[in-house]
Amino acid sequence: MKFLVINGANLNLLGTREPEIYGQKTLDEINNNLTDFGKGQEIELDFFQSNFEGELIEKIQTADGYDGIIINPAAHTHYSLAVADAISAVKTPVVEVHLSNIFARDRETSITAKGSIGVICGFGEESYKLGMVALKNHIEG
Ligand code: DQA
Repeated sequence: MKFLVINGANLNLLGTREPEIYGQKTLDEINNNLTDFGKGQEIELDFFQSNFEGELIEKIQTADGYDGIIINPAAHTHYSLAVADAISAVKTPVVEVHLSNIFARDRETSITAKGSIGVICGFGEESYKLGMVALKNHIEG
């Protein structure tokens, strides 16, 4: 099984960006941990990060070759109908994840969640791992 992990705006700054909210690990460190975790689950991962909405949309649109998508749309979560539409448009199943608990912050709305199978938030890096397992279970029925 092969998943694409997509991260949106400012997540390239993980490690130094508000570590009290998003943790101390860099995106590369998280991605390496996810790759190791995936091996145990027989899930292969590719990674993509962009600060540009259009690039995120094009990546979602061209993810046909993957069994599923794990996406942290970052700030796009809260305003981007365009990212939401891209998620809804593709047949590839999508799980939305967030490091922080967006519902415990001043940003409890997710516009992008509409087209996703489900949303996992608040568990830091674990949110991605839980998302991988949930997506795998969903696909395998
Ligand atoms: C985030 C939460 C968003 O509100 C924020 O804009 C981010 C990161 C998270 O993973 O907790 O950039 O998606």
